[in-house]
Amino acid sequence: MRDPIRVAVTGAAGNIGYALIFRIANGDLFGPDQPVILQLLEIPPAMGALEGVAMELDDCAFPLLTQTVLTDQPDVAFAGANWSLLVGARPRTAGMARKDLLSANGPIFVSQGRAINDNAAADARIVVVGNPANTNCLIAMHNAPDVPSERFTAMTRLDLNRAKSMLAQKAGKPLQTVKNVTIWGNHSGTQYPDVFHAQIDGRPAAEVIGDDLWISDTYIPTVQQRGAAVIAARGASSAASAANACINHVQSWYAGASEDDWVSMGIPSTGAYGSPAGVIFSYPLAIEDGAYRIVEGLELSDFDRAAIAASGQELLQEREAVGDWLS
Ligand code: NAD
Ligand code: LMR
Repeated sequence: MRDPIRVAVTGAAGNIGYALIFRIANGDLFGPDQPVILQLLEIPPAMGALEGVAMELDDCAFPLLTQTVLTDQPDVAFAGANWSLLVGARPRTAGMARKDLLSANGPIFVSQGRAINDNAAADARIVVVGNPANTNCLIAMHNAPDVPSERFTAMTRLDLNRAKSMLAQKAGKPLQTVKNVTIWGNHSGTQYPDVFHAQIDGRPAAEVIGDDLWISDTYIPTVQQRGAAVIAARGASSAASAANACINHVQSWYAGASEDDWVSMGIPSTGAYGSPAGVIFSYPLAIEDGAYRIVEGLELSDFDRAAIAASGQELLQEREAVGDWLS
């Protein structure tokens, strides 16, 4: 039997947490032969609810779940954690932009960054889901100076899944034929869901769609505003699809992604493709043996460049707003 992998999940009694941890316990992240230990963090008022979730975990009798730790102490939650999924944070409500959450959620990522720094495993990998995900990730990274910065990532996989799903439906093709869509920039209304470097069924996606007006006036704004549309329809922010995207993000990082079917994640920016340095920026990534690299050599149009620049500009403004937390 392999040694268990320790997975810390924050906000584990929340909506995303409830859709996430049962799948982790079922083996969805690392496969059917890999045991896991769940280290679940909540705030004190939610510990009762977390105990109820833990009862349900027991009642599922998952063979791969070797231990469940429940705690309201970040140092305990991140002790020896190989993977830290930072979900716990306030969600926005109707009428808010995700960046309106910065003042409420930023401090969470200061203390959790420090706790990860002091307690996580040497191979620690971090996925930030709580919004605004990119800038919260930047805050956590700055507060964990001993953890290699490339281990900090923000989730843009939900945006990628939304984009692929919409393109497959429009083209009338199976989802798995849609490849190399990219989410550039911020998980926000400025993100750029790039179809111009994508393929559908082995052909340029924009050519298969054959409707540039739909791409510019329907597809791009729909993907950008999908989170708000779900909130308007459901009265609560997306939860099952967010949990699914978090699973996909870890699966790709763990198992890899080829240049023929790249993925997107927010990572510490490198300046590639005109992105600004010093923020967490989503790029097209290939992944091998747990190490990601930005896909090189994509030719950008003026439209691509302007969209990438707009999202970069917003991330710089967010960074400016949280300067006090970037130690
Ligand atoms: P929720 O309110 O249902 O649950 C959040 C949970 O976090 C609560 O149980 C709360 O007690 C807990 N929490 C709050 N502060 C904490 C702390 N300091 N430590 C540990 N736990 C803490 O919210 P949700 O629907 O699960 O959403 C969680 C976050 O994920 C929100 O910020 C939401 O906007 C974000 N989100 C991001 C994406 C994405 O694509 N990146 C998608 C959906 C939601
Ligand atoms: C989403 O994209 O669904 C989440 O980030 C929630 C939100 O506030 O939009």
